[in-house]
Amino acid sequence: MTMTVSSAAPETRARPSRPAFFEEVADDFEAVNAVIMEQLHSEVPLVEKIGHYIIEGGGKRLRPLLVLLACRALGYGEAGRDHLKLATIIEFLHTATLLHDDVVDTSDLRRGRATANALWGNAPSVLVGDFLYSRAFQMMVELDNMRIMGILSNGTNVIAEGEVMQLVNCRNPDVDEAHYMEVIRCKTAMLFQVSAEAGAVLAGASEEQIGQLRDFGLHLGLAFQIIDDYLDYSSSAEEMGKNVGDDLAEGKTTLPLIHTMREGSEAEAALIRKAIRKGGLDDLDRVLAAVESSGALQYTTACAKRQSERALACLEYLPASPYRTALQQLTEFSVSRSF
Ligand code: IPE
Ligand code: IPE
Ligand code: MG
Ligand code: MG
Repeated sequence: MTMTVSSAAPETRARPSRPAFFEEVADDFEAVNAVIMEQLHSEVPLVEKIGHYIIEGGGKRLRPLLVLLACRALGYGEAGRDHLKLATIIEFLHTATLLHDDVVDTSDLRRGRATANALWGNAPSVLVGDFLYSRAFQMMVELDNMRIMGILSNGTNVIAEGEVMQLVNCRNPDVDEAHYMEVIRCKTAMLFQVSAEAGAVLAGASEEQIGQLRDFGLHLGLAFQIIDDYLDYSSSAEEMGKNVGDDLAEGKTTLPLIHTMREGSEAEAALIRKAIRKGGLDDLDRVLAAVESSGALQYTTACAKRQSERALACLEYLPASPYRTALQQLTEFSVSRSF
């Protein structure tokens, strides 16, 4: 959805305060914020400008939190700064994907402000995304841990494939639920999986625990993206800090639409197919009505809830600790969130 956003007054909402489950690692979290700012350094002014702009937009910072909680839950000790570096690497990889994703999705609003592509154009956004990716890889070398390097490099490769699969699917109403799940596994759940798994490896956890954390991250990430796709049909720009209807505008066949085509009336299914093929927002009101009347919103949240339950089940294998409790709360937040 396009929305006129003035660069003079880009903020559309007050930044929500951090949920309580950040408290358990509050000191680590502050230290990560400092590393993030330090690592944005570049001799090229435009790189710093755009880098600071997107990072200072804030965001929920759930993935670096996941790294910190995962390694602490598995007994990572006080010594060293590797956990701070790993959390920063993950947030840089995430931010790079956002810079690229907003170009690909022609989005105008992110984190309650004009996107970098809306303010500076596509080329600087793509190139600064590349800067953040490569800075993350420089930091990975500093970690000097081949296993973590393998997890992160395989993960970023899969994410890139996920975004390409998503692109190829645009304007195709025949994408089914199984294929949708595979795309979101790659484009989104993979980074959650990598965050949890690499955190566990850094903590020196057993192979069994590493496996549980990996599966935890996968199911958490699936739940997270299903809710993101739900919010695109049910929230508001003020609440989300992103425009509602962006998915329809790009002709993305996400779960609310897949369900409506499958379970709605013939007329509703035909309307959705046409809207996906066409892209744009001309039919937004009628699409929203069909999505609501077919029960697609309830279906979508129920799917997310199922994934979150699978994530919670993985946590049962971890020793009880305040960090495990925070991971449970993070999981619950991911499905109950409105932004
Ligand atoms: C946005 O992720 C991209 C998706 C995978 C849906 P977040 O919703 O975590 O974005 P920020 O970092 O909080 O802005
Ligand atoms: C997430 O998908 C893509 C990434 C992995 C960055 P979306 O396209 O739904 O994310 P938003 O809604 O733009 O944040
Ligand atoms: Mg997008
Ligand atoms: Mg989205």
